[in-house]
Amino acid sequence: MKLPSRVQLTDVGPRDGLQNEKSPVPAAVKVELVHRLQAAGLQRIEVTSFVSPKWVPQMADNAEVMAGIQRQPGVRYSVLTPNLQGFGQAAASQPDEIVVFGAASEAFSQRNINCSIAESIERFRPVVAAAHQQGISVRGAISCAVGCPYEGDVPPERVGLVARLMRDIGVDHIYVADTIGVGTPRKVQAAMEAALAHYDLDHTAGHFHDTYGQALANTLATMALGVWQFDTSVAGLGGCPYAKGATGNVASEDVVFMLHGLGIDTGIDLDALVDAGRFISDFLQRPPNSRAATARLNQRKP
Ligand code: HMG
Ligand code: MG
Repeated sequence: MKLPSRVQLTDVGPRDGLQNEKSPVPAAVKVELVHRLQAAGLQRIEVTSFVSPKWVPQMADNAEVMAGIQRQPGVRYSVLTPNLQGFGQAAASQPDEIVVFGAASEAFSQRNINCSIAESIERFRPVVAAAHQQGISVRGAISCAVGCPYEGDVPPERVGLVARLMRDIGVDHIYVADTIGVGTPRKVQAAMEAALAHYDLDHTAGHFHDTYGQALANTLATMALGVWQFDTSVAGLGGCPYAKGATGNVASEDVVFMLHGLGIDTGIDLDALVDAGRFISDFLQRPPNSRAATARLNQRKP
């Protein structure tokens, strides 16, 4: 199996992870998490989202979190913006990158962002243009790329369709998201190949939730296609409030352990990452949802 020699991870824990927590997480804790992630060597961090606070109250402190971060050169900070209103607020925080988030499933698009796939593209169009005008790059998420909590299996053609629509409105980079973690390697490869028909390998990433324990296998399977950019989440945090039953993203610690074992460079210090995961897990009063982190923490016990 030929694999990429370098892999770039985006830690989405502060956003995807903490958007789903039942009890509020103070902005200061989110800021500290971002600081610990960058200190561990993460160069891409998805910090927060500029969505309706009525829909996702956990992200209502978006501007405060962005303002609290001491930015490190070389680190790219991204935020989610579903519409122009969100972009306007996000732009004041000067993100390096924004994320518009669509779906390969109509039902999920309706539940998550209250519009159809076609309407979502029309909402994203001016957001992409405004971002580009300000020199901000745009990622596009394609949720439910293999399965949907409301529609069941999602065929790869749907992913191809949304990828094409995103390319047509100028989205720079896309990611194929297994929102509910039902993908298995061949299915996720098929979804990724459908996206790769419209974007090249340097502009396509994977975002795999680990509900059924397949996310690490899916990461490796898509690396075999040449994909070298992935979203992961420290301590395996994550989930989407509109995807019931979905658990966290694949744990950053587990992916880093696998990559380093394969001799693939990530620029990340695993032990510092484990410490970042422990910091947020202690706050949430539960152990990290990462086998590698658990193993490392057990090793450290006297
Ligand atoms: P809507 O109700 O259709 O929007 O929601 P609207 O334009 O009709 O506005 C209604 C109200 O929302 C108004 O306020 C607006 O001001 C306000 P009111 O007059 O009632 O007081 N509003 C906003 N407020 C703040 N920021 C905004 C904004 N837009 C409108 N940007 C909307 C549409 C998209 C806003 C809503 O559905 C929403 O916020 N959805 C959030 C969904 C979300 O955040 N989901 C989780 C992230 S996606 C995810 O986790 C998946 C991902 O990880 C990939 C994967 O795993 O699949 C990315
Ligand atoms: Mg997600």
